[in-house]
Amino acid sequence: MKKPIHLALVGATGAVGREVLSILEHKNLHLEKFSLFASERSEGVKIPFQEKMLSVERLVPEVFERNIDYAIFSAGKTLAQEFAPIALRNGITVIDNSSAFRMDERIPLVVPEVNAHTLNRKEPEIIANPNCSTIQLVMVLKPLEKYRIKRVVVSTYQAHSGAGHKAQEELRTQTTDFLKRLSFLQLTESNSGNPQSEATLMKNVFSHQIAFNCIPHIDQFDESGYTFEEIKVINETRKIMGLPELKITCTAVRVPVLDSHSESVNIEFESAFKLEDIKNDLGAFPGVKVLDNPKAHVYPLNVEARGRDEVFVGRIRRDPSLNSGLNMWVVSDNLRKGAALNAVQILETLLTS
Ligand SMILES: NC(=O)c1ccc[n+]([C@@H]2O[C@H](COP(=O)([O-])OP(=O)(O)OC[C@H]3O[C@@H](n4cnc5c(N)ncnc54)[C@H](OP(=O)(O)O)[C@@H]3O)[C@@H](O)[C@H]2O)c1
Repeated sequence: MKKPIHLALVGATGAVGREVLSILEHKNLHLEKFSLFASERSEGVKIPFQEKMLSVERLVPEVFERNIDYAIFSAGKTLAQEFAPIALRNGITVIDNSSAFRMDERIPLVVPEVNAHTLNRKEPEIIANPNCSTIQLVMVLKPLEKYRIKRVVVSTYQAHSGAGHKAQEELRTQTTDFLKRLSFLQLTESNSGNPQSEATLMKNVFSHQIAFNCIPHIDQFDESGYTFEEIKVINETRKIMGLPELKITCTAVRVPVLDSHSESVNIEFESAFKLEDIKNDLGAFPGVKVLDNPKAHVYPLNVEARGRDEVFVGRIRRDPSLNSGLNMWVVSDNLRKGAALNAVQILETLLTS
């Protein structure tokens, strides 16, 4: 590590921001100063960090005039579009978690294990942190690129933490309300009520019931019938892998779990492969852990991935419907490797180069 730095965290009170804080708590990045920003709702909130209490400040353009070296942004696309260019003009390198700059060809979109070479490192820049579903996907595609990837089909099973802290709260509240109503109906032996009636459950973040429900709709739809979440996975994977023509399709689904995204990934390769080689290649890649002993009921589970840094992969098997096809199940904590950890790793890469 070089000289001590002044780091800023924008969106410090959010789901991703809190995770950044918890990761940095256990790191020694030589922080000379650490400034936390959020909306005016959180102004003055105190957050414990490495035996100090840090106070959250309201984000205004002038804060970037304070000799900040690096800023991690986790406050959404609109704020990033407004404030990241101001930070950059003040000589600050920005690592942004939103989708604001990801597809800008001048801006690196980085997963350090996969494409750290695309970082500029010489002068301040904006660096985009990819979408959570993309990060765990490219972490298992990269070690297999030597088999020449022909086509990828990915279906995501995404946790509610991926939609922010209010979405997690809505899932908790709806699930509790749903179960209370269910037991009330059973106790009264009433068959006139329906605990699944959408009208009876509080809905603020999502338009549909989210408790005990899978919703094939994340972000908005475009005219093609795909959601922007699906389009992000497709375009970002091509950019990070440096494969602009890669054939890839995606279906993204919100499922009623609190933490960690799961993905069913099907890959068609140009080259033949041995299953044992694939498992060894995945296991040897930094940040990937193979959990694959189905007979012993060992495979990645979202409840076990929470709080872990690795991308877990299992259910690794041939797809017999293709000449050279593979199926696998990939699970990772979307708030850690899918967002906060990846951003911190980008920062560490910059600091050590
Ligand atoms: N959750 C994930 O798995 C995930 C993964 C990858 C990327 N991301 C991206 O990371 C970003 C943050 O997501 P999140 O899930 O952490 O959202 P979140 O839980 O809703 O948190 C949003 C944060 O932004 C702050 N904020 C909102 N309006 C603001 C304003 N006007 N000025 C300053 N700060 C403001 C909030 O502060 P207050 O608390 O004061 O409102 C809060 O700290 C988003 O761009 C998201 O797409 C999320």
